[in-house]
Amino acid sequence: MRKIKISISAAVFNDITELSFEDRTLMDKAIGARKKAYAPYSKFSVGAALLLENNEIVTGNNQENAAYPSGMCAERVAIWKAGSDFPNVKILQLAISASSSISKVDKPVGPCGACRQSLSEYEIKQKQPFPVLFMGEVGEIIKTASLDALLPFSFDSSYL
Ligand code: THU
Repeated sequence: MRKIKISISAAVFNDITELSFEDRTLMDKAIGARKKAYAPYSKFSVGAALLLENNEIVTGNNQENAAYPSGMCAERVAIWKAGSDFPNVKILQLAISASSSISKVDKPVGPCGACRQSLSEYEIKQKQPFPVLFMGEVGEIIKTASLDALLPFSFDSSYL
């Protein structure tokens, strides 16, 4: 038996004003997308924005459904839009923002496990890591250097 240790590092910003101009611009797009979310059941709105190598910004937000599991997260709406409209254009960065009409979301909201898996597919496909920035409605923002940092031991096509 041997033990291994996996550690990740992330940058933590106190608030949106600490971000670089580029990061702030992308986060503002995620916030704009979040405001258009369709979340009548959970009241929890999420917005995601992907910056592509061709300078396009692709956004997505959560789309809920009366049959709850038929809804979809913001991150997967965005990544599949990008994969569908720009199949061979690299993703340079992802920004995510979440808010609730029930309570103030003041801590960073990372993508759910299923979204991490879906996002990971595209990071592996493009053979280039992309940083992920995530926040709530206000407060701290976390920035990881890659999707891989958020999903160690991920499942990929090498197992198939
Ligand atoms: N949600 C996202 O859009 N992204 C996540 O990573 C976590 C959760 C959405 C799904 C659902 O519409 C609402 O947030 C509450 O779970």
